[in-house]
Amino acid sequence: MKIDKLIKEALEAKNMAYVPYSGFRVGAAVLTEENKIYTGCNIESASYSPTNCAERTAIFKAVSEGYTKFKAIAITGDREYTFPCGVCRQVMREFSKDLKIYIVKNENEYKEYTLKELLPHSFGPEDLERKTAEEKCDEV
Ligand code: THU
Repeated sequence: MKIDKLIKEALEAKNMAYVPYSGFRVGAAVLTEENKIYTGCNIESASYSPTNCAERTAIFKAVSEGYTKFKAIAITGDREYTFPCGVCRQVMREFSKDLKIYIVKNENEYKEYTLKELLPHSFGPEDLERKTAEEKCDEV
């Protein structure tokens, strides 16, 4: 899949942002291992904390439909380059250790990173697999 399509979809998704409080629009498009694209925008709330970032909207849409492995995500916001917040980086980590992250300014200009670069020394699902198979057997 060409990265141009992912970028276009993120730019389009930004137009759906529900941002009556910050006025700051963000759009994201995530590419699954199966080459399906899910898009998302940020959605704000009058009580602020329920606000959901664009990246998580896109990822949760995909996961809720059974897609849990991702190759790449494109992100674009109302400033030149909008980087994902810490919470979204952690959510990305849940599903993909080797995710490519495209930070998009416009259709022709973007920066490319890996999740490892943006979230080094991360904590993830494997860290909760504390017990070896042997230890588990001993318990029985
Ligand atoms: N926002 C995102 O959608 N993604 C990010 O990674 C950074 C922040 C949103 C949340 C809120 O609606 C607005 O940007 C201002 O923080």
